[in-house]
Formats: sequence, C-alpha cells, structure tokens
Amino acid sequence: MSVSRRGFLGLAGGLGAALALPGCAALVREVQTGELLRSTAKLPRPFSVPLPIPPVATRSRRTSDIDFYDITARETEAEILPGVRTRILGYDGIFPGPTIVSRRGRRTVVRHANELTVPMVVHLHGGHTPPESDGFPVDLVFPRGYESPESGHDGRIARGSRQYSYPMRQRAATLWYHDHRMDFTGPQVYRGLAGFHLVHDDEEDALPLPKGDHDVPLMICDRAFDEDGTFLYPSLDPALRTRRGVANAYMEGVLGDVVLVNGAPWPEMEVTATRYRFRILNASNARRYRLALTPKPGSGSPFVQVGSDGGLLAAPHELGTVPIAPAERFDVVIDFSAYPVGSTVTLTNELGDAEGTTQVMRFRVTRKEKDDSRVPAKLSEFEVLRPEQAKVERRFRFGRDDLSQHQMWTINGRLFDPARMDARPRLGQVERWRFVTDLHHPVHLHLDSFQVQRDADNDNGWKDTVDVRPGEVVDVLVRFTDYAGAYVFHCHNLEHEDMAMMAAFETVA
Ligand code: C2O
Ligand code: CU
Ligand code: CU
Repeated sequence: MSVSRRGFLGLAGGLGAALALPGCAALVREVQTGELLRSTAKLPRPFSVPLPIPPVATRSRRTSDIDFYDITARETEAEILPGVRTRILGYDGIFPGPTIVSRRGRRTVVRHANELTVPMVVHLHGGHTPPESDGFPVDLVFPRGYESPESGHDGRIARGSRQYSYPMRQRAATLWYHDHRMDFTGPQVYRGLAGFHLVHDDEEDALPLPKGDHDVPLMICDRAFDEDGTFLYPSLDPALRTRRGVANAYMEGVLGDVVLVNGAPWPEMEVTATRYRFRILNASNARRYRLALTPKPGSGSPFVQVGSDGGLLAAPHELGTVPIAPAERFDVVIDFSAYPVGSTVTLTNELGDAEGTTQVMRFRVTRKEKDDSRVPAKLSEFEVLRPEQAKVERRFRFGRDDLSQHQMWTINGRLFDPARMDARPRLGQVERWRFVTDLHHPVHLHLDSFQVQRDADNDNGWKDTVDVRPGEVVDVLVRFTDYAGAYVFHCHNLEHEDMAMMAAFETVA
C-alpha cells in the first residue's frame, strides 16, 4: 500500500500534479510517503527480544548551574538482529544514543566529538537553543584530518568536536538529538545517529504520573537489512561524501520492513498490571504509524495522551489510536490493570504496508503491583495563542519541482540554500505560518514550538512538527523568542529534507 513513484509517472511534478490526482490515489497517499525496501536478512520472530532501554548519559562534570557531557560519535558494530552484526554510526557507539536528562533552567553543555569518517552536525530537536548551538545544517563538525571534497556550502566548521550549549529555558518535554548534516541527514540518522534528550521541571515532578521505571522512552523506527546485516539504504553516494539523495525510486521516502523500538526488532517488554507513561518518538525517516493496542482494554480508552512535542498538554486527552508522523512525540499513559495477569498486549500499527510493519512491539503483563500513579484532570497551564494576535502571515508551499535534471523537493518552488533567509520573524511577535502541500509532509520548525490551528488528534498542545496531509492547508501560530540568528524549518521526511525541502529563516530583535 505504499505510495510510490508509479502514481507520478506521466504526470508533471508539483502542485498541478497533486490537483490532477484522482481521489483514490489521494487516499493511498494518506498512508505512506515512500517506497518499501525489503530485507534479505533472516529476520527474527517478533517479540523474541527484550525491549532495551537506552542508558542515561553520564555527566562528565558539573558546576552549580551547568551539567557537562562528552559524547563521541563512532562507527561500531551492533547486534540488532539476533546473531547478526550491523555496522552503525552511534553516539558513544550505540543506537539509540545515550539519553541525556536535563532540568529546566540548568544549562546542559555537550561536547560532541566526531570519530566517524564523515562530517556531522548535531541538532537538539525541540530545543529552545541559541543559533550557534542549534545545529544549522552547514555548521559541520569534521572528523580530525578530514578534507572537504567541496566547499562553498560550509558554515562554521569545527574540527574533531564541537561544544553545544543548551540553556534549557524551556518546559519539561521529550526532545531528541540527531544528525542534521546538510544533504546527508537521512542516511546518517538511518545508520544510527539519534538519541533521546529529556527535560524535567517542577511542574511535571509535582504530578502523580507514572515515574521511574514506569516512565519509558520508546524510539520507533523502521529499517531494512541486507543478508549480512548491513542496513539497506539507497544512497546515490554510499560513502556519503559528495552526492546527496537517494535513487529515484526512493525519492518519496525510504521505508523499511523491520520495526525497531529502542533499536530492537519487535521487542517485548514485561510490565506489571499498572499504569505506564510511554514517551513515544517516531524517529523513522519517512514512515507514519497509527498505533493501536491489540486486544483493546476491557474498559477505558487504550491511550491517555498527557504530552506532545513541546511537553505536557493542558489536560489529558483520550486516544483510541496514536497517529504519529516522523519526528512527532506522544507522551501517553497505558493502564495495564485493564488486562488480566498473564496476558499479552501487542502495540500494532494500523498503517502497516508490509507484513513486518503491522506490528511494533508487545507487552506481557506479568503480575499485579500497587499503583500510586494517576492521571490528573489538569496537567499544565500555558497560553493559548489566538489567530488575531498574529501580526505577520507567511505562506509556504511544500512541493515537488523539476529544477535540475531530476526532481527535487522544494518550499515555495525553491531548493534549500543555507545562505538565503526566507523569513525574518521578529522576536516576541506572534506570526501565522500557513503550510500548503501536494503530498504528505511532516513540517518542523526549529527554535520554538507552535500551536496548530486544526482539529486533529496529532495537534494537541505545543508542537514542533505538524503532519500536513495531502492537499491540505494548515495554519500554525508561532512566537519566536530569546535568540536572534539563523535557523531552519523543513520537512522531516528525511529524504525530502536531504533533497532540499528546507529553508532558512533569521530571527531578528
Ligand atoms: Cu529533527 Cu531540523 O530536525
Ligand atoms: Cu528540530
Ligand atoms: Cu516532505
């Protein structure tokens, strides 16, 4: 059921093509944007490996108000499929990378060293970060001794390592860090450069939500494996040096047939018959999921959403399913007391397009346990932005255009150019940004979260990524604050991003 290039053959690119599509093709397009890569490796039985929890990063030192970390990106081998070795690019050599845990108002400083063979850029997704630490796509960190095959696009180059400084003047939220190297983010994230970064604060601590080992991050992503365990990815330049992008057949996105949770294929987690909070992140390059519990609980709704990209919701929101696009986060509570001890509950995906992608992971309810947690009727208080507040309106069309020999992804008909600023929002002012699309694009803004003017299950609370559906017009209200400088916004389908669906903007005081 994946959307494929086939639907585009014989049609001109861009918005015109989208308008010419018959209704049924548009329906298919709602499901997946991308082309399925099939594994040739021998795949394990689902639910045969335990769910790993990424280790919490250890602080290298601290002062009264700063926590310091040192993380080194390395190429290593990991056993992802049982008995098979996969070469990965990993922060500290692991995938997912170590989880960084920060406190609101305490600065976190991370020295990211690059021992890979390719340049990297580290971005804290959802971070309210000054420009020099945000991971602008050309602020490359070269490995020591690296000779750039081309220059011209280089920004602030660091050699060997770069120190990223995060003030953490932001609400408690589930953030993540990942590679953001211009033109090569897709393959570098796919090979493993992604990790969680959690921010806590007093408001969240005071709530009786599940805590400790009942507060579990789940990074969901899809991959395909070659016979020898190698990640399959259709890069035009497998060495990731000069030529960006993927083979034409995959330009709509790369979809794998294996679902990993925290780096393990279809894992199983033992739970007690109590409430758990899951911080669900879709770290897939292109795949969307609609997560469901099978069987459904005997009573109550399967999921109670308590947070989204930008932290806690104002009030809990019951969800029958969790629709999650690339880069989005859903903090949900699942109450396993609704299931008999001894039962298993599968986290399924209603948008699966291949056998392996209809299932995500499984929970096994092992025993009863005292549960002091609950989901309070009120979670948080924050300002609700109103459309009348918007002083400036901007419109961005996410499309496909024939600009060079092959098709590329564009915003307002233009390819990403890190030197060109496509908007200059004034700090402190509310703006309305209108996103218009042909295909399905998860649109992400750096620097600040926004509020979506649409009534959909994925739009609750503060968001930094909005899944704009085919042919849709979606408004978001955003107020950039604190930091003046250059940032980007882009489609978070990483193949679209690498093939130029990104734009820079400069916040001005
Ligand atoms: Cu998660 Cu600009 O990225
Ligand atoms: Cu981001
Ligand atoms: Cu896109």
